[in-house]
Amino acid sequence: MQIDLSGKVAIVTGAGRGIGRDIAMTLASEGVITIVTDVNEAHLAAVKQEFDASGYQGSQYVCDVRDYGRIEEVVASVIADYGRLDILVNNAGVAGGAPVASLSEETWDLNMDVNLKGTYLMSKAVIPVMKRQRSGRIINAASFAAIVPSYGGSAYAASKAGVRQFTRVLAGELGPWNITVNCYAPGMIPTDMNHFAERPEDDQQRLLDTLTLRRWGSKDHVAHLICFLASDLAEYITGTMIDVSGGKLATQTPKIAYEKAESEVRNYAP
Ligand SMILES: NC(=O)c1ccc[n+]([C@@H]2O[C@H](COP(=O)([O-])OP(=O)(O)OC[C@H]3O[C@@H](n4cnc5c(N)ncnc54)[C@H](O)[C@@H]3O)[C@@H](O)[C@H]2O)c1
Repeated sequence: MQIDLSGKVAIVTGAGRGIGRDIAMTLASEGVITIVTDVNEAHLAAVKQEFDASGYQGSQYVCDVRDYGRIEEVVASVIADYGRLDILVNNAGVAGGAPVASLSEETWDLNMDVNLKGTYLMSKAVIPVMKRQRSGRIINAASFAAIVPSYGGSAYAASKAGVRQFTRVLAGELGPWNITVNCYAPGMIPTDMNHFAERPEDDQQRLLDTLTLRRWGSKDHVAHLICFLASDLAEYITGTMIDVSGGKLATQTPKIAYEKAESEVRNYAP
């Protein structure tokens, strides 16, 4: 069994850096014509260099997911260039917050506008194209915060929980058109958004203690899931959220298994 994505056309938003960049590079390396969008022009220029050096197919656009006029221009340009659009990955996101008592309206709005409204606007723009094709894959970045939120994360968690419900509603609306809509919930993947792996050692240990697989996630873990969800192998999966978190809080205190394993390993003959 093999994943074959060659010749498909994908847009990945917020793909100038971080997980989105890795998703875009992985799709492109699988033969997908990959359109990379972001607000950061310098990061897009670096992506272009890597595409050119690797011989990847696709293009790059400066596009703010809050700007519907610009989104429509980008989608029209993609259709003019490539004639179709098979995959939309709504990866663009922001984090940040504060306890509600001191949370600014600006921070609340930014989380809602980029994470939730941006997902809606991008989806809205590609729906007519995918409906005409009678096929398509929309894959949205939710977060583990949609399941268990963190202190001070009300705006982020509410936006990502919104993405989860938006995904289910849209899956229902687009089922008759053979378009699937899913989202994924990364747990803790060190990026410039969170700097997990650069925090003080005891802080890192506290976070790792929540994981069944007691190590940080990698951007590739998400990119591989996206490849699967975008492929024909996932044609019967829609309206769901897949947790890619190394089993974060799958049990109440995952750390206990590691403490027990450490003492058992001394007496255990492999
Ligand atoms: N890293 C994690 O552990 C983790 C966990 C859960 C969910 N996520 C989600 O995964 C996605 C990627 O996260 P990341 O860690 O790679 O973050 P990141 O900050 O490294 O990358 C986010 C990208 O989105 C772009 N962006 C921001 N605002 C934008 C806008 N208005 N329009 C277009 N692009 C915009 C940024 O320029 C950046 O390139 C986000 O949606 C995030 O919420 C990440």
